[in-house]
Amino acid sequence: QRHTKISSIQSLFSLPASMLRFGVILSVALLLLLNTVAAQPAAPTDLQVTGYTSTSISFTWTGSAGANGYELNYYESGSGNLLQTISLPGTGTTYTMTGLTPNTLYELISVQAVDAAGTSGKSNEIQLETKPAAPTNLQVTDHTSTSISFTWTPSDGANSYELNYYESGAVSPHSVSVYGTSYTLTGLKPGVLYEDISLQAVSNAGTSGKSNEVQQETTPAAPTNLQVTGFSTTTISLKWDASVGAASYILNYYESGVDTSVPIPGTGTTYTMTGLNPGTLYELISVQVVNSAGTSDISNEVQQTTKDQVQKDPHMETFDGVRYNFQGLCTYVLSQDCKNINHPTFQVTADFRSKYSELLSKQVTRVDSVNIIVGGRQLVRILNNNSFLINGELLFSSFAVIGKNEGTVTVSDDHVHVELHRPNMSISWTKTTRGVSIIFNDEAMHGNVCGLLGNFNGNMEDDLMKPNGEIMSHSDIEEFGNSWELPGSCE
Ligand SMILES: *[C@@H]1O[C@H](CO)[C@@H](O)[C@H](O)[C@H]1NC(C)=O
Ligand SMILES: *[C@@H]1O[C@H](CO)[C@@H](O)[C@H](O)[C@H]1NC(C)=O
Repeated sequence: QRHTKISSIQSLFSLPASMLRFGVILSVALLLLLNTVAAQPAAPTDLQVTGYTSTSISFTWTGSAGANGYELNYYESGSGNLLQTISLPGTGTTYTMTGLTPNTLYELISVQAVDAAGTSGKSNEIQLETKPAAPTNLQVTDHTSTSISFTWTPSDGANSYELNYYESGAVSPHSVSVYGTSYTLTGLKPGVLYEDISLQAVSNAGTSGKSNEVQQETTPAAPTNLQVTGFSTTTISLKWDASVGAASYILNYYESGVDTSVPIPGTGTTYTMTGLNPGTLYELISVQVVNSAGTSDISNEVQQTTKDQVQKDPHMETFDGVRYNFQGLCTYVLSQDCKNINHPTFQVTADFRSKYSELLSKQVTRVDSVNIIVGGRQLVRILNNNSFLINGELLFSSFAVIGKNEGTVTVSDDHVHVELHRPNMSISWTKTTRGVSIIFNDEAMHGNVCGLLGNFNGNMEDDLMKPNGEIMSHSDIEEFGNSWELPGSCE
């Protein structure tokens, strides 16, 4: 069309000379007419990309005078086939192609100006590859106190990925380049929330938008520096150093073959184990931290033997918690069956003997041996050097069965431990402190025993009871103690 118009103008200039003057005037008039009414616009220039994503490309160009619209063409990479002509009415000189395919080369992109007379030639041509699509399905697959593992669905064309994350409360993100479809972030802080974790695909064309975001708290670190701060006949107090991110703690311990775990609510860093058995070894005591991410490893382990009910001078503590000192030099009933005071089914007695105390520079009373009498017969006698007698026979072994499976005697380090089946009870002896403790495994004993260790009825008020039922006050300890003396047993 353009060619035809130019030919017709040229033909005007080829008129005979006589017509030239008129022809010039006519041709100038025609040129003016063509220019004002039907001149083709010049091609747009300076087509430029102003921005692009995985699915869009934005352009600007320098418009053409007189244009009342533009056409944007682009071609398929490789085949060179025209993919689309987009008509853009009006005089605007920006456009954003949308709905494009990620990670795809769009080429021979050009604009042409349009007016009533026709369409201009093409602008400069450009080509551009869209960015890769954002990765999807980012998931946390595992975590520890110092790591978080992820998987994701990869993006076509991605050469690598940028993993972005924030440590809770931090203003600036951390970023790390990763490859493949899974990754484990390491070197993290225990008990900390990592949030706004997202992934971007990186290709030669650029960096995609963000994947979905995930968050994960790391498991807290194990508490440290667990220590025993105190203990009594029935309690062990503990303290430890706090762990970051703790929501609560768990206490673990091992006693007499049984593993126990108890929750400790809150974030305090002290705890007192209560209701424990006297003279008993609590071992493998540890604490763990709990938060929403899980449970930490265990702290260091400690162990502690609770105080004996009778020790040293002797200091006494009854089953119900009454404390007193009693210095006699005979054999006394520590505890016995009290249903029939004259014919008890069992008795545990202790031989109190005098001993010179270097520390106190005077004679003091010490427990010298412990006797366990069942059915009127002396079943076991524990000596102060950790030797023991069963039915009168002296034994030195570290383990022995009593009679026909009536119980066992175990000797370990400082302790002699006697387990009886009937009555169901245990008696422990600590050599260094001359300590004695009695544990009843049968609830029926509670309130049905008597002796220097009281009646075990849960009431501290009536513990100092003589065999005749008379209850003594602390000022009458001598009278109370002597009332439980075995006749003819004095030193
Ligand atoms: C413990 O003392 C008893 C009584 O004095 C004695 O017969 C025994 O040999 C001693 N045991 C040890 C291991 O010394
Ligand atoms: C003794 O008591 C313990 C603890 O309650 C129990 O496990 C055990 O079976 C009892 N033994 C006998 C012989 O009754």
